[in-house]
Amino acid sequence: MALLRVEKVEKYFKHRKEIVHALDDVNLFVDPGTTTALVGESGCGKTTLAKIILGFYRLNSGTIYFEDKNITGIRRNQKVVRENIQIVFQNPFLSFDPRYTVFAALYEALRVFTRLKKSKSKEVIAERLKDVGLNERYFFQYPHQLSGGELQRVSLARALINRPKLIVLDEPTSSLDVSTTVKIIELLDKLQQESSLSYLFISHNLKLVKKISDYVFVMYYGKIVEYGAKEAIYNNPSHPYTKILIKAAQQKVKEIKEGVRSEGACVYLGHCPYKLKQCLQPPSFRKIGENHFVACYCF
Ligand SMILES: Nc1ncnc2c1ncn2[C@@H]1O[C@H](COP(=O)(O)OP(=O)(O)OP(=O)(O)O)[C@@H](O)[C@H]1O
Ligand SMILES: [Mg+2]
Repeated sequence: MALLRVEKVEKYFKHRKEIVHALDDVNLFVDPGTTTALVGESGCGKTTLAKIILGFYRLNSGTIYFEDKNITGIRRNQKVVRENIQIVFQNPFLSFDPRYTVFAALYEALRVFTRLKKSKSKEVIAERLKDVGLNERYFFQYPHQLSGGELQRVSLARALINRPKLIVLDEPTSSLDVSTTVKIIELLDKLQQESSLSYLFISHNLKLVKKISDYVFVMYYGKIVEYGAKEAIYNNPSHPYTKILIKAAQQKVKEIKEGVRSEGACVYLGHCPYKLKQCLQPPSFRKIGENHFVACYCF
């Protein structure tokens, strides 16, 4: 049984008179104890999907299941989501109140779940900081007194406070330098090994995704175009967009042309070098290998 299942999710935003089709018939899953990556260029809808899973945005249609419980519609299912799913955002300096010390921020997160006395809370908070490689010395530091890497570790400690089963990581390292990124990725890996945590890892960095993921979903303008086991995606990228993304990660193409979304047709039609007549109708997924699916008529 998948831990998280996203089924046929549609999301539209209204911008004055313009309508943005942010998510188009999105299906995705995360299995227990594994990492599913969601990759795609800026503006393709990754954060929107994360926020829909956490219940920050309403969806227009579709269903989200957590352990087979329908958690669509946050009011009804707030408890299941709160207890099991947490999120870590890209910029830790924007996700903490600058007036709160590390202890105060973690204590506030802990109080959502329990009414522990302060002395007992100290133990739990110290333990979570230890999990992420920090110690009690950080209790009374303010966010501005920490480096980006340290504060992102505190974000993780906060996400872990009540031992959730799933953490949505929305570009968690894109504001960090290369060596700090490596350390955070190693930490995520260690936490997963220790407690069989699951991650939905959102990124446009294909090199990182290769390191951390088990399963990969490739999104283009709100639509999943290819998905499969990591090995299938990296050894045999098949959708023309996935091919370009992987070449770009290997620095074999200088830039990816700015996206265009083709409505009512294959979403990639505008850029596709292999256009066929059928592409005027959106393709459905075809199985092209073990654990490998692509939405393209070329297969
Ligand atoms: N609250 C909102 N109101 C209106 N439009 C929005 C809103 N949030 C996102 N959008 C639009 O939805 C689309 C998807 O945005 P989203 O933030 O999900 O992209 P993303 O893949 O996370 O991009 P990035 O990699 O830059 O973080 C964009 O066109 C964006 O302008
Ligand atoms: Mg985003």
